[in-house]
Amino acid sequence: MRVGILISGRGSNMAALADAVAEGRVPGAEVAVVLSDKAQAAGLERARERGIETLVVERRGRTREEHEREVADALRARGVELVCLAGYMRLLSPCFLEEFRGRVLNIHPSLLPAFPGLDAQRQAVEHGVRVSGCTVHFVDETLDGGPIIAQRVVPVLDSDTPETLSARILREEHEAYTEALALVCGGRCEVVGRRVRLKA
Ligand code: GRF
Repeated sequence: MRVGILISGRGSNMAALADAVAEGRVPGAEVAVVLSDKAQAAGLERARERGIETLVVERRGRTREEHEREVADALRARGVELVCLAGYMRLLSPCFLEEFRGRVLNIHPSLLPAFPGLDAQRQAVEHGVRVSGCTVHFVDETLDGGPIIAQRVVPVLDSDTPETLSARILREEHEAYTEALALVCGGRCEVVGRRVRLKA
């Protein structure tokens, strides 16, 4: 399974996935390209250090569809079969999702469906929940709303700030994303309505 990873920033989830693939922890997967919509994304350097092809496709005043067409063309040209969003700060439009239907994953730093959207860790702290975590899900047209593959739970402490909670969640994100990628690449996920059933 040729995997394309889309980033906009730091790229720690991308690095975790790439390292897991390189260490043979995701049988059948190969990272084909890391693509960023931001030229200055720190994750690009982390990808290059790992010997992975990198690509920058900026929006440059074009429509969302025009930008995504270029992204989709670049992924298709590299034989990408599965797209992992890893801190990619853009909503994908129906035309992109049509082409990669059921083959786009995302990670979100909360226990969805709680706290979708931006600043999920701050939302969790401000709401006063006692646990939070992360969710890996298939992407559909809804915001952070597609079928859930994997989740990890962390405690929220009285002393937490959005930053300390983010750091605790991030450690779990790297594990959860690797686990979810292995499930998908291993053909273990069957989507039934809203639910993902894991095949033995
Ligand atoms: C992560 O918290 C992820 O859940 C969210 O964006 C952040 C990306 O971090 N979607 P990184 O670029 O993977 O380090």
